[in-house]
Amino acid sequence: MRIDIITVLPELLKSPFEASILKRAIEKGIVEIHFHNLRDYTDKTYNQVDDYQFGGGAGMVLMIEPIDKCITSLKTQREYDEVIYMTPDGITLNQKIANNLSIKGNLIILCGHYKGVDQRVRDAFITKEISIGDYVLSGGELGAAVLCDTIIRLIPGVLNNETSALTDTFQDNLLAPPVYTRPAEYKGMKVPEVLLSGNFPKIEKWREDEAIKRTEKLRPDLLNK
Ligand code: ADE
Repeated sequence: MRIDIITVLPELLKSPFEASILKRAIEKGIVEIHFHNLRDYTDKTYNQVDDYQFGGGAGMVLMIEPIDKCITSLKTQREYDEVIYMTPDGITLNQKIANNLSIKGNLIILCGHYKGVDQRVRDAFITKEISIGDYVLSGGELGAAVLCDTIIRLIPGVLNNETSALTDTFQDNLLAPPVYTRPAEYKGMKVPEVLLSGNFPKIEKWREDEAIKRTEKLRPDLLNK
């Protein structure tokens, strides 16, 4: 998979890709991440990429021309499955959206800033608008990092134990069951007996039951989906 991220703040986005699972996915050649600074696509003085809103109102808007130049230049080099815009008024990211995106080949992610982008960008170039939750961030960069993390960990070969993404919370609309590690007893608090039994069908059944119990208690809305 190849992900091209268009942003006015590439430095804000780099560190999540320089550690742990994302770093390993890049090193293994499973995913390529390319950052594009929107300011490299403007001819204006001071590398201006934003301007005042027509009609008045507070806040600057990212202009269409540098975004058009950047996206068009990328599209002449390869085909893209989706051109995603990170915005608080997009569809809210969930595991199903992440699963669908994890099987794509090439993605562009455009990060908004200030009041967002000129509406004509959304009308002409964007195929999917994604929000990471009902709150407003200063820009789309942190949202793009969250989106990339959730997609990339699902690509086969990224996690060492491939089944571990399959047992994540939200796969199958269930929360994950409780997990324990050594010691088997700590200050009188014991690990459930069944997990020490070595009886794997029984352990599997316990995990399923606990996942359902936990979902009923904490996120009953998931069970109705
Ligand atoms: N940009 C600003 N707020 C955002 C949000 N909640 N999700 C995605 N992008 C954003």
